[in-house]
Amino acid sequence: MQDTPGDGTGPGLLSVDQRTLLVCCFILAAAMGQMNFTGDQVLRILAKDEKELSLLRDLEGLKPQKVDFWRGPARPSLPVDMRVPFSELRDVKAYLDSHGLAYNIMIKDIQVLLDEEREAMAKSRRLERSTSSFSYSSYHTLDEIYSWIDNLVTEYSDIVSKIHIGNSFENRSILVLKFSTGGSQRPAIWIDTGIHSREWITHATGIWIAKKIVSEYGKDCILTDTLKAMDIFIELVTNPDGFAFTHSMNRLWRKNKSSRPGIFCIGVDLNRNWKSGFGGNGSNNNPCSETYRGPFPQSEPEVAAIVDFITVHGNFKALISIHSYSQMLMYPYGHSLEPVLNQKELYDLAQEAVKALRKVNGIEYIFGSISTTLYVASGITVDWAYDMGIKYAFSFELRDTGRYGFLLPASQIVPTAQETWMAIRTIMKHTLNHPY
Ligand SMILES: *[C@@H]1O[C@H](CO)[C@@H](O)[C@H](O)[C@H]1NC(C)=O
Ligand SMILES: *[C@@H]1O[C@H](CO)[C@@H](O)[C@H](O)[C@H]1NC(C)=O
Ligand SMILES: *[C@@H]1O[C@H](CO)[C@@H](O)[C@H](O)[C@H]1NC(C)=O
Ligand SMILES: *[C@@H]1O[C@H](CO)[C@@H](O)[C@H](O)[C@H]1NC(C)=O
Ligand SMILES: [Zn+2]
Repeated sequence: MQDTPGDGTGPGLLSVDQRTLLVCCFILAAAMGQMNFTGDQVLRILAKDEKELSLLRDLEGLKPQKVDFWRGPARPSLPVDMRVPFSELRDVKAYLDSHGLAYNIMIKDIQVLLDEEREAMAKSRRLERSTSSFSYSSYHTLDEIYSWIDNLVTEYSDIVSKIHIGNSFENRSILVLKFSTGGSQRPAIWIDTGIHSREWITHATGIWIAKKIVSEYGKDCILTDTLKAMDIFIELVTNPDGFAFTHSMNRLWRKNKSSRPGIFCIGVDLNRNWKSGFGGNGSNNNPCSETYRGPFPQSEPEVAAIVDFITVHGNFKALISIHSYSQMLMYPYGHSLEPVLNQKELYDLAQEAVKALRKVNGIEYIFGSISTTLYVASGITVDWAYDMGIKYAFSFELRDTGRYGFLLPASQIVPTAQETWMAIRTIMKHTLNHPY
């Protein structure tokens, strides 16, 4: 669906004005076929009590597939953020007003942020082409990330390699980076980013961290000690089909792209598709829901690939699954309010990790178990990991708290990655010092 811009004349021969024009045309052309979010808003509601939360939950039924919860109704202390298409704004605001639910407009026009994001990517891409260097402070497409992976494993072949662990529904490669200094089946740490495809800050953070690991080995004591005893695995694009779709068609796509005969809606929420607590509260049986769990546990190839890989490996000691946004660090369970066996240890470790994170840029995270901090959610990655015997299982919600939500400006990538790394490093150190 993309137009090819220009007529073969190199931009080097054009005046600045012509160049600007060309860039604009390129951005427009690249945006063709893209879902247009002009006038869509993100509204924030602070529900006072359960009754108000339930009025908000009702909106999903009243406006099916229209209201897109960025932060769903969870508990009165947490804000609810929802994207409302321009065409529904009047109705939804009238509904809120009629029930006495006050709202703030967090994002006045989503398309404005999308245009800025796209322009920043185009700019950075031209710079990268001319300097053949990769910019860690900009967002990238799937192809760009996959070729960056190839460059990384070539350049640092003594410490990092690439493993193909499966193919997505649309048959894209599912890749894992393995950081290792030798040994076989060493105790291992798993990190995944991007299981929800619109959470772009997570992929970008994972990329920065991968680079950090190869550059700091031999310099940073904690990392070096860890890599002398353990392997680190990072899956940067856990939902490659969804991610490609966020670039080509719909920036705000969350689920995967699987389709089934006779079912109109597309996609499964890959973070509801895991076996632990599958089908419980906080997951949805309706294929049109953003939290549709899929027909059965591990029905999705993207989830099955990880399950097979981690199970066959058999020696993972920590698992960190990275989401955005809300600034939280959480541990199991999501599907139940019951505390896990080592809840005290996880609580203390989360507190320590959050402290290390805050030291970098002063950013505050809240922490606790998923079900008590966020909401009850069933069939999620970290519950599965915990039930598999991986007792250091954590889930991050990265920046921010809603000013930009999923559309975090690229200027925040590096600071976000730096602080997240310090928290991850804290978890790594604890895992290293508490073998089991
Ligand atoms: C999106 O829609 C708005 C209003 O309908 C229009 O002005 C704008 O040009 C469209 N943008 C793109 C990239 O199609
Ligand atoms: C899927 O991709 C692989 C390469 O990764 C290729 O060998 C295979 O034939 C493809 N399968 C289908 C059904 O297209
Ligand atoms: C998406 O979900 C379907 C199930 O609806 C699954 O079969 C498919 O493999 C998934 N694809 C991706 C890319 O997650
Ligand atoms: C789901 O929630 C309902 C109502 O809060 C509760 O009665 C039920 O036991 C929960 N189900 C599970 C599997 O936890
Ligand atoms: Zn997520």
